[in-house]
Amino acid sequence: MSSKPEICGVCDAGAYSEHAAWLQRGRAGVKNSFAVQAGAGVSGFALQECRAGIDNLCTGAGDAPDTVTVSLKINSSLPAEGYRLTGAAGQLVIEGADANGLLYGVYTFLLRLAAGDNPEQLNTQSAPAVPHRVINHWDRMDGTVERGYAGKSIFFKNNALDYDPQRVRDYARLLASIGVNGICINNMNVTLGSVMLICDEQLPLVARLADIFRDFGIRVALSVGFESPSVLGGIPMQDPLASAVVNWWAERTSAIYSQIPDFLGFVVKADSEFQSGPSAMGISQAQGANLLARALAPHGGIVFWRCFIYNCLQDWRDTQTDRPMAAYALFKDLDGQFDDNVILQIKNGPSDFQVREPNSPLFGAMPGTRQGLELQITQEYTGQQIDLYCLAVHWEEVLDAPGHEPGHLRDLIGGAVQAVSAISNVGDDDNWTGHTLAQANLFAFGRLAWNPKLAARDIVHEWARLTFGAENGVAGEVAELVLGSRAVYENYTTPMGLCWMVNIHHHYGPSPEGYEFMKWGTYHRANAQAIGVDRSSRGTGYAGQYAPPLAKVYNEIDTCPQELLLYFHRVAYNHVLPDGRTLLQTMYDSHFEGAQAVEGFISRWEALKPVLPAAVYASVHARLLLQLENAREWRDVVNTYFYRKTGIADERGRQIYP
Ligand code: GCU
Repeated sequence: MSSKPEICGVCDAGAYSEHAAWLQRGRAGVKNSFAVQAGAGVSGFALQECRAGIDNLCTGAGDAPDTVTVSLKINSSLPAEGYRLTGAAGQLVIEGADANGLLYGVYTFLLRLAAGDNPEQLNTQSAPAVPHRVINHWDRMDGTVERGYAGKSIFFKNNALDYDPQRVRDYARLLASIGVNGICINNMNVTLGSVMLICDEQLPLVARLADIFRDFGIRVALSVGFESPSVLGGIPMQDPLASAVVNWWAERTSAIYSQIPDFLGFVVKADSEFQSGPSAMGISQAQGANLLARALAPHGGIVFWRCFIYNCLQDWRDTQTDRPMAAYALFKDLDGQFDDNVILQIKNGPSDFQVREPNSPLFGAMPGTRQGLELQITQEYTGQQIDLYCLAVHWEEVLDAPGHEPGHLRDLIGGAVQAVSAISNVGDDDNWTGHTLAQANLFAFGRLAWNPKLAARDIVHEWARLTFGAENGVAGEVAELVLGSRAVYENYTTPMGLCWMVNIHHHYGPSPEGYEFMKWGTYHRANAQAIGVDRSSRGTGYAGQYAPPLAKVYNEIDTCPQELLLYFHRVAYNHVLPDGRTLLQTMYDSHFEGAQAVEGFISRWEALKPVLPAAVYASVHARLLLQLENAREWRDVVNTYFYRKTGIADERGRQIYP
């Protein structure tokens, strides 16, 4: 537990708005007034954002004596989308490499001002690690959001594009302020309704939405179905490479670009979970991806081709098929066959956004192919925006872990990995993310996609200062609470790489055998003696998909990192871990400690009541109480499960419900 906060003031509850997230009004104890001027080539929009941002922050500071002149400039010698801030007495120069770079410079200035920095002393320069920093919405045309925990879609209603333009502008500003430059607006599980988004009737509506995002430097992408030529054009797809199919994509893509000249491209889920795709039609993933890529290439578009492909009709008695091995087996040997404008979009882990997984062995294993890292901001398996869960810490661990070779995934970003995408956690709830503190996860995504070297701690503290005020000790305490939440959640749910003990379909709450006898390839195979799948060379061989030095580490129980032990190994309950405890006792301790830590979260939050805006205090408090119920249920269900399997009680005599 962190030390007690020194709280010296109360956040201005009148000014605070959950909707404003990290772009709060009147935040700065700003001592200056500002004059903003623009150099040649600077867009009116950047100037307007800068002025409006200052007005937003400096409510009541207009008559301050010291004026700082802020000059906006384009400097094309900076790296693409980069910016530089140079402060001096009475002035600040914001330079951007291009329109996006300048906007990012403006937002950086505004955020630093909000955090309490002196604009005359700002001296910083930055450029993004990757060219594509993309939010993926899993929004459906009927207005629901697949795995959405923050209300309904902000784009769709009643099977149509139907949105509040002001809300979309607010969203675009939030995204641009953290460096996001792409958005895919519809779910990659493309339905009969959403397949129509690329039709002539729908395109003008998509174009109007793209107009809003364009101001903020964000390009719109669409999810499309591989079968679209057949579904929309009536073209038979027995031969998916036939000229009729090729021409159909070329014609549709031209139609898209005639309305949306900066269209980003297509996100494609093919051959996965009942979506059709090239494998089903007898051609390779590379041929399938290139088919779409060649239609997009003349216009500068990209195909984000998802690698989440596995056998989702597995017989649980089949112990040879091992789901995490599927993507590597399918894609690795296709290295070099994908066109330059294809990015293979790979989930961070080989399973499916579990609380703990190794990184996909595909990262860094295909030197001749552009790759993208797919993260999940929406908390499908990580508490569904009821439980507090810090993805900044989770992703820092992902980036710190190796890909194919020993080393750090973060070092591949900007090299083999050219895109960082994530599934949005946003819906039409006023605070965007359901749980107000889950705003930190959206913020962290933008920050890490821009610079994967940032520390989770710095990101979360920055977010908390911007959201709850720099001048008030409350921010530090909120940040520490958030930072500790990933470990706590892992402790009371599925520690040591256990995975898949969730309730089926909706994925919230415990069900130790919920997925055990299902078709999804998601097994831990517990019996009375042991638990876990042996993925070493003595088992399925999954560890061997990593380069030899890393395969060796994962292959042995004694060298495998303990947090991944049950991902790679089948381990006896009485196996003694390095600290002298058995696997079973560690499991018990972890669940007891995890649930107890949530009680600690509640008392820490309650101590902040006098200094937090009432609405955010109450909404987070209500969620923490639900989290406590969930954590206790996880503790009791999982501990009871292991007690029944083994008949061995907790060494410390704590209550397990038989
Ligand atoms: C998970 C998730 C699905 C989603 C899929 C995907 O399986 O539960 O809702 O469609 O991932 O990423 O395609």
